Amino acid sequence: MRPLVITTPIYYVNDVPHIGHAYTTIAADVLARHHRNFGRTVFFLTGTDEHGLKVQKAAAERGIEPKKHCDETVERFMSLWKRLNISNDCFIRTTDPEHIRHVQAALDDLMKKNEIYEGEYEGSYCVPCEQYWTDKDLVEGNCPSCRRQVVKLTEKNYFFRMKNRLDQLVDKINAGELKIIPEERKNEVLGSLRSPHPDMCISRAKNRLAWGIPLPFDRDFVTYVWFDALLNYPSSLTYAPRLTGNRPPAWDESEVIHFIGKDILIPAHSIYWPTMLMAMGLSLPKIVAHGWWTVEGQKMSKSLGNVVDPNEVVQTHGVDAFRYFLLREVPFGLDGDFSIASMVGRINHDLADEFGNLVGRICALVRQKENGVLNLESYQSDSPDGIRFKVLAESRQATESFQFSVALTSLFGLFARLNKKINDERPWESAEDVRRKTLATCAVDLARGIFLLSAYTPALADEAVKRLGCGEWFKQGPKILEDDAVKSAGAWKVTTGEPLVKKVETKSEEKPVAKATADGAQPQGPAAEPGGIDITDFQKVDLRTARILAAERISGSDKLLRLSVVMGGAEEDKREIVAGIGKRYEPDQLIGKTVVVVANLKPRKVFGVESCGMILAAGDETTLHVLTVDGEIQAGIRVK
Ligand code: MSP
Repeated sequence: MRPLVITTPIYYVNDVPHIGHAYTTIAADVLARHHRNFGRTVFFLTGTDEHGLKVQKAAAERGIEPKKHCDETVERFMSLWKRLNISNDCFIRTTDPEHIRHVQAALDDLMKKNEIYEGEYEGSYCVPCEQYWTDKDLVEGNCPSCRRQVVKLTEKNYFFRMKNRLDQLVDKINAGELKIIPEERKNEVLGSLRSPHPDMCISRAKNRLAWGIPLPFDRDFVTYVWFDALLNYPSSLTYAPRLTGNRPPAWDESEVIHFIGKDILIPAHSIYWPTMLMAMGLSLPKIVAHGWWTVEGQKMSKSLGNVVDPNEVVQTHGVDAFRYFLLREVPFGLDGDFSIASMVGRINHDLADEFGNLVGRICALVRQKENGVLNLESYQSDSPDGIRFKVLAESRQATESFQFSVALTSLFGLFARLNKKINDERPWESAEDVRRKTLATCAVDLARGIFLLSAYTPALADEAVKRLGCGEWFKQGPKILEDDAVKSAGAWKVTTGEPLVKKVETKSEEKPVAKATADGAQPQGPAAEPGGIDITDFQKVDLRTARILAAERISGSDKLLRLSVVMGGAEEDKREIVAGIGKRYEPDQLIGKTVVVVANLKPRKVFGVESCGMILAAGDETTLHVLTVDGEIQAGIRVK
């Protein structure tokens, strides 16, 4: 069987990783682990996209070199992937010298083959933002970032001959040579290909954007970031041994699977990338595009302050609960909504009650009734509920066809059935031969389920294997799924102890929260909570640093000020907050201050202005002081 190359998008190094990034990476990791478990050679790539204007600007704001900025921010991704148990074989950064050489060699080669030509680019340019925008980006004809007027500019640039390949691309999609999954996304791509697409402009003038890979044939230009970034997929295969010591397979002899979010399917992965591959004479991949996560019904955005940091989720609920939840909750390909409450539901019901409890009760019964050693000779392979083999095969098939939630549903269906079998056959009071049959059959089938589950929740699966004492048997790999594998199972020495999966206390969430009083005023003081609140309650409040850019009085009110604050480097990080601090502060006194805001309050209209957050302050209306921070700190940093 051909080796498998599995990739994630390479993430913008400037971003703070959130559940969206974690989702793609976990899904790719599950597939990689699954195929490795079944003995297939897998090479799993992830990394960061480090060139471009945003990085250049962020570094300039910090007064440091872009590479130094990247070296610092890349850590967020590297450490998160370690924490989430991601088994990538390589981590590529587009600033790796080998990648830069690879991109330049590809450009040279395409230039020689006349796949690249010099032409004129005409576009709308925003002078203050130093950025070209397409007509569809413009907002009422203005720059979508600063809303100022754009100017039409025409300048020399280099283009990749993409247009001429589009008919061939349609044929290849229809013939299944380029696979786009799921089917609806494939249809969207075919729909988009019915409209004209111009050749791809692959250069950016260096005097405007210096932080990029110089074009080898014209040093006044750098490479367009997408052209640079997409090439990471084959380029990293060429130098992975230097990074990791692992020898990767060659592109053309592998089955390549790109996991991406639906946001970067058209045109980047479904039009640019396959036509680039065609021009380079490389084989076409499989593209798997998943849906989009919202958080409690809202789009995740820094300005709404609802970006979910995976580090915080796993700190409280554990890595495997997070991995399980993301892949179980939503059919892959569809959009999903993240909430801690639904995750807790899954932990308590699926992981604790269904799975952890099954492992726990088998081990406890073996300890009580069999002196802790499970004898497998009584395994009943012809048991009437032998549909387990069908379930295991279905689950395997679902994982391999990217239907992760289906795979988990069938596995947990098996665990539920085994729990029911124990309830029905009552091994704690049945005759010895019956009891042994029940316990051996349930334990073996549970272990087989764990084999398939281990790609999803590796640490939990390892712990369950330890408890069941079947580690040696597991070393046979997928053979244990075969009917007669029990013959070689030996005897298992079980371990009992703390529950395998601890349930999450939900009582505090069920307690009535303090209600507004009849006149609509909020009650004074904190909501009654005997013994204090839990840290998770505190973590629900997203406190962030924010810099006040502008302040003005709201006419008709003597205490309300309208503040424009910024909480990061992007346009979407700006927001307006209405604050009742006008009796104590003049607007001018506030400009430039770094304050602390509650960033995830639901927006509400105050005096006709939508207020997105609340500034923290101590004191009453006239003696009040806004909370500021000690020393210099960036805007948008979480206050803990
Ligand atoms: N650098 C480009 C990709 C280049 S690949 C050659 C990029 N980076 S990104 O940092 O913006 O990451 C985009 C990816 O993050 C999406 O394709 C998706 O995989 C993931 N997600 C980001 N936000 C997401 C959600 N809200 N929900 C699900 N996934 C999301 O684009």
